[in-house]
Amino acid sequence: MIISMENFAKKYCIITYGCQMNLHESEKLAGILQTLGYFNTDDETDADIVVFNTCCIRENAEKKAEGNIGALKKLKRDKKDMIIAVGGCMTQQKGYAEKLMKKFPFIDIVFGTHNLENFAELILERTESKKHIVKVDDKEGKIVEGTPKARSSFPNGWVNITYGCDNFCTYCIVPYVRGRERSRDPEEIIKECENLISLGYKEITLLGQNVNSYGRDLGNIDFATLLRRVSALKGDFRLCFMTNHPKDLTEDLVKAIAESDKTARTVHLPVQAGSDRILKLMNRHYTREEYLEKIALLRKYMPDVSITTDIMVGFPTETEEDFNDTMSLVKEVRFGGAFTFVYSPRSGTPAAKMAGQVPEDVSKERIIKLIDLQNGINREQSRAYIGKTISVLCEGYDDRKKKYLGRDTYGRMAYFAGKGLIGKFVNVNIKKAGGISLMGELLSVEEEKDF
Ligand code: SAH
Ligand code: SF4
Ligand code: F3S
Repeated sequence: MIISMENFAKKYCIITYGCQMNLHESEKLAGILQTLGYFNTDDETDADIVVFNTCCIRENAEKKAEGNIGALKKLKRDKKDMIIAVGGCMTQQKGYAEKLMKKFPFIDIVFGTHNLENFAELILERTESKKHIVKVDDKEGKIVEGTPKARSSFPNGWVNITYGCDNFCTYCIVPYVRGRERSRDPEEIIKECENLISLGYKEITLLGQNVNSYGRDLGNIDFATLLRRVSALKGDFRLCFMTNHPKDLTEDLVKAIAESDKTARTVHLPVQAGSDRILKLMNRHYTREEYLEKIALLRKYMPDVSITTDIMVGFPTETEEDFNDTMSLVKEVRFGGAFTFVYSPRSGTPAAKMAGQVPEDVSKERIIKLIDLQNGINREQSRAYIGKTISVLCEGYDDRKKKYLGRDTYGRMAYFAGKGLIGKFVNVNIKKAGGISLMGELLSVEEEKDF
């Protein structure tokens, strides 16, 4: 029998919903818990503390989290000392924490997005006082540096550059639950990137709700400058960033992306809709034409760039004609991939109060058509890869497929067989194409580049 500290130590299990930013925040929660002496487990029945890091971008994200919290009721009855903590965007909504405690009185700690850095204190407070703790500050504080991080995404390292959002798209809950946009000190960002590179991380993703407006509150730096600084760092790594807002994507930024050998040739540029009328109602601050101009600008400097997007159907008052504008835009741009969503009314946002909510069956019909269209484009683009040899950063191993997986600079996923490849750039010859992913044969492991 192997006896290790882990057999005796307390264990944590974190369940995360939502975007990459939340996944990264879970790495911070894990860092805090490890500092307190907890070890990780993926099995909540074995955990001394279960943390739900929630999302509320759409109703189904909330339902999923609530369902999973509710499912712990029996476990908590049997394991009274187990701590259940719920944080993230869902808990930051106005009046939600109280509602949650009423619905699930067995929850020990509720903490808002502005209270992540208080998490250690909250656990200690709960352990000492045995009282239920609700800590949801209304307002964001200053950016806190130095929160420990237990990263789980090697060889990809996520680095926050902005927090919050000031855009107030009329459908979106994010500005209400993440607070005003704040940019992180560039020196802190550079330090974190350097550290990741020295630890052997091969992909750095700069994170923000709208990375293009980085620096607006600092006054002496913009995103293009930051991108140039990070891509000038010594080391063999790929540089990614998300998410971009079309209204803030400047020519100088496009040049900064194009100039750099390290910056991935994929740009995520959410369009949301193809109809000017809907874009205006959404408060997106660009027209269809202006969006297409941004696409042309990206392709002028990087003819091969892959542009991915987010699209929503069923926004209030969306007509068949509006929807057809979205379809024709998708045909015109030929995105390298698209996340597609049915509009979900979010309480407290202007769109939730708009007249003309679209019936569910109409939205469903539209999203099926949209997904079909994009799937066809994905298939065609994937097929064009057959016979080509591409450079892939090996990111992980798929237990079900029994294959390694990774993405090329255009963000296209490829699977291949091999041994000990995680964190290496490899050359893969593509033999088969699935919908959005590729199947290939490993040709060689690339030499470390001396940039
Ligand atoms: N900050 C990013 C995205 C944040 S949320 C950006 O602006 O691009 C990710 C995506 O979720 C959005 O791009 C949008 O397409 C979708 N989304 C946001 N609110 C939604 C809602 N109420 N209903 C359906 N989809 C939504
Ligand atoms: Fe939401 Fe718009 Fe901000 Fe993105 S830019 S987080 S969609 S408000
Ligand atoms: Fe992300 Fe969901 Fe919050 S998408 S910012 S976790 S509402």
